[in-house]
Amino acid sequence: PRKIIIDTDPGQDDAVAILLALASPEEIDVLGITAVAGNVPLELTAKNARIVCELAVHTDVPVFAGCDRPLKRPLITAEHVHGKTGLDGPVLPDPQMPLAEGHAVDFIIDTLRMQDPGTVTLCPLGPLTNIATAFLKAPDIIDRVQEIVLMGGAYFEVGNITPTAEFNIYVDPEAAEIVFESGVHIVVMPLDVTHDALVTKHRNDAFRALDSRVGHAVAEMTDFFERYDKEKYGSEGAPLHDPCVTAYLIRPQLFSGRHINVQIETGSELTLGMTVADWWRVTDHPPNAMFMGDVDADGFFDLLTERLARL
Ligand code: BDR
Ligand code: CA
Repeated sequence: PRKIIIDTDPGQDDAVAILLALASPEEIDVLGITAVAGNVPLELTAKNARIVCELAVHTDVPVFAGCDRPLKRPLITAEHVHGKTGLDGPVLPDPQMPLAEGHAVDFIIDTLRMQDPGTVTLCPLGPLTNIATAFLKAPDIIDRVQEIVLMGGAYFEVGNITPTAEFNIYVDPEAAEIVFESGVHIVVMPLDVTHDALVTKHRNDAFRALDSRVGHAVAEMTDFFERYDKEKYGSEGAPLHDPCVTAYLIRPQLFSGRHINVQIETGSELTLGMTVADWWRVTDHPPNAMFMGDVDADGFFDLLTERLARL
């Protein structure tokens, strides 16, 4: 299995991404989960990550708290999407498992130094603050990263928090810039893909029909999460952004995209946090990312439902 660190700001869709990873031990070995401030403040994301581990009955996975604010800007949160706990929807007990000792950034650094070079994949599902901080603090780890598979950005779908920016990149554009310029190979799941991974009624019924704690919790999370997108965009259901990352690790052939140059706007107030993706290759800037454009949504939901059934 592929060794990964999940860097996350749960978030209902983050929660489903984590569940999918924990349900897939043949393909994925979760070395640890690092929480970052994003959808809600750090204290809540660090708590929610542990709630999700307990829901999956995987209290063996260490959960670390990381950065509580972006590198250079005040934190922007998304309670309007995720509710005030970040995980509104199901009623889940407070976690019993403690946070792991130490800072998430140090866990990322130590893990990359300890494991063989090129064997650890980073999976950021929130703002890139923890990852960029680790790269700034310990540049020697950059070359040791196997790959970064992240959810963030948009090209044809432009933005969801401003007209031109996707939330994860917008919250900490300076961190995103560091990551995209690091030289590490990056696989990007932008809104172009995740807005096709919609939990329609039929798909939500399939989660509920699992008739397990996890099945009901996921159905209730997506029930809550879809309100925002339905009202705001007239979308057919909740977009499962972050699970695209973990699904890619299991079944990459579900996704297709282009290996292109992607740069992050950090200067302009108007387009701050935009992922400027050279989709049509109109520049000669070297490719730094596999920018996905398409997902086999039925295949994705079949995989997700089949795996959640194992928990
Ligand atoms: C991203 O922002 C968050 O609200 C979601 O968890 C996802 O990671 C989508 O723009
Ligand atoms: Ca997220």
